Amino acid sequence: MQHSTLVSQYIKQLKSLTSTADESVLDLACGSGRNGLYLVENGIPVTFADVSAVAIAQVQQHACLVNNMKQADFWSIDFEQEEGTPLAGKSFAAIMVFRYLHRALFEQIKQAILPNGLIIYETFTTEQAQFGRPKNPNFLLKAGELADVFSDWQILHSFEGVVESANESGQKQAIAQIVARKPN
Ligand SMILES: C[S@@+](CC[C@H](N)C(=O)[O-])C[C@H]1O[C@@H](n2cnc3c(N)ncnc32)[C@H](O)[C@@H]1O
Repeated sequence: MQHSTLVSQYIKQLKSLTSTADESVLDLACGSGRNGLYLVENGIPVTFADVSAVAIAQVQQHACLVNNMKQADFWSIDFEQEEGTPLAGKSFAAIMVFRYLHRALFEQIKQAILPNGLIIYETFTTEQAQFGRPKNPNFLLKAGELADVFSDWQILHSFEGVVESANESGQKQAIAQIVARKPN
């Protein structure tokens, strides 16, 4: 699957952050790893995290193929566990979250990113319900929600609207995106 253009747009910043901070980029709820693998292919260290052991195993195989295992870490984790704070005590140069929403993680995500580090977040908004799944409001961002959560960070990019899916279906998708830098 194609990586998001949002990731390629910020690849220089991600490269610079990971080389100076000596920390990786967390691909949170990585799925097929389409975004993290693109970074690994470009020499950027990534921690792939997902609850699905199958997804993690597939990403491992792909990372092997690009011959860059030393740039990849794998973390089988349930981010929605009832007890505990999975990101507590962890630190990352940047965190990217695509097509996944668990609101209880917002504060943990903000904590786990190093000062000057980046959040890259893209997922569906409530408008998505008219086009297809997901329809559960727990998985859909409200208008302005991402911008609100990161309002105390430097917003580098913010978008909310309807786009055509990057795959050949051309289906409409209602999404919000944010790229923001954590204050020093
Ligand atoms: C729609 S996919 C998005 C995958 C990837 N971020 C992308 O954009 O291609 C959602 C991913 O979230 C993962 N996920 C769902 N619940 C999770 C949980 N509780 N903890 C960790 N990952 C979870 C799923 O296994 C799946 O890989």
